Amino acid sequence: MANQQAFLDRCLEAKEAASRMRAPLIIHHYDCDGLSSGALAASWFEEQDRKYSMRAVRKLDEALIKELVGEPEIIFVDLGSGSPFIEELKGNVIVIDHHQPQHKSHLQANPHLFGFDGGSELSAAGCAYFVFRTSVDLGIVGAVGDIQYPLRSLNRIMLEEGISQGKVSSSTDLRLFGRNSRPLKQLLLYADEPYLPGLTGQEDGCDGFLSGFGIPQKTGDKWRTYSDLSLEEKKQLVSALAQHLSSRSSPEASSRLVGEVYTLLSRPQGTELSDASEFSTLLNACGRNNRAELGVAVCLSRAGAYEESQLLLAEHRKNLRAGISFAVKNTQDFGKFLLLDARGIISDSIIGVVAGMVHPGSRLKPILALSLEEEGKIKLSTRGTRQLVEAGLNLGKILSEACAAVGGVGGGHNIAAGATIPENRLDDFLLEFASRL
Ligand code: C5P
Repeated sequence: MANQQAFLDRCLEAKEAASRMRAPLIIHHYDCDGLSSGALAASWFEEQDRKYSMRAVRKLDEALIKELVGEPEIIFVDLGSGSPFIEELKGNVIVIDHHQPQHKSHLQANPHLFGFDGGSELSAAGCAYFVFRTSVDLGIVGAVGDIQYPLRSLNRIMLEEGISQGKVSSSTDLRLFGRNSRPLKQLLLYADEPYLPGLTGQEDGCDGFLSGFGIPQKTGDKWRTYSDLSLEEKKQLVSALAQHLSSRSSPEASSRLVGEVYTLLSRPQGTELSDASEFSTLLNACGRNNRAELGVAVCLSRAGAYEESQLLLAEHRKNLRAGISFAVKNTQDFGKFLLLDARGIISDSIIGVVAGMVHPGSRLKPILALSLEEEGKIKLSTRGTRQLVEAGLNLGKILSEACAAVGGVGGGHNIAAGATIPENRLDDFLLEFASRL
């Protein structure tokens, strides 16, 4: 049974513990949820005019813990609960996380400990929001970035608080990236979630599609964006896209075309920062391209940071499109799961994002995607669906067990998990993985 009050009490306890710290080191994860939760914690220290420092990391392993042994005050954000090694830290430690806990040491604010699922009901950014009660928009960005969509349970409570604070609004609309910021053709040409077969990456296809039902692409000299369209034109475009997707991809893909969207009202309107989903892509672009500090600077509205992030965003989206197009053609059915072997093709920094975006068929099975981390090591990502989780799938547990059997390290959530394994143990790993599905 979930106990909301006990969770909120723990969050308050964590905030009081943070208030007693003099100048903590905030260690946070490098993906969207890690950057938004780290920045959220930082924004609280700044509001209080208190000192802190930050460090973004890809994973919390034994080597990192050894480095941290002498640190007097650490706040882990979006990591910590899944790393038993942190028991070795003797300083003052607070963990704000949503990964499946693998130990009980230190003060942990984690929804799992109170009967909530951190994979779908609250992300680390949401957990940090309930601790610090500030920057609610970053809480929404983290949840959307961790694909905790549609927002429900603790996420929904956070959303409602954001709406009543006047910082967020929600509506039902087209979910393609660039609704407010991209000319129509680019909206389709660069679509990656969902991927639009025959349109994504195909200029002629986009021109043909748009002229097919007479929506003008320009008003005078100005290219029109989706948000410039009349309600009638929007309906026409959305239903044509839904039909196109149902016939060329799957009904499941077309169901992802429209949904709840979140506008962040205190961020510059008409930019990626005003839309939770676009903001989350921008943060992934920074974090997954070794520029985590830039992502944090964007969250904290530092001068020049948004402008600097634009190049990274363009590069990241190009890599995603190439990755998705490879994945769509090369995902194999391995019986109990789908396998995408993208070693040497898709970088380990975006393999998880691509795995979460590819939905071949109606995706009745989990997908396992492989990439190369470094010589001799495979970084793998696995993604399920809400339906599979409801039927009992727990990928975090499966990966941590399967990895333990082959000398790897893995874990995460029931719906999304990742791992690193030795390349020469891949066959054993696949057997261990399949046997647990
Ligand atoms: O790396 P990837 O994006 O596939 O990870 C999916 C989820 O699993 C993330 O929340 C990540 O933090 C978690 N994970 C983990 N332990 C690992 C690798 C990933 O908890 N060794």
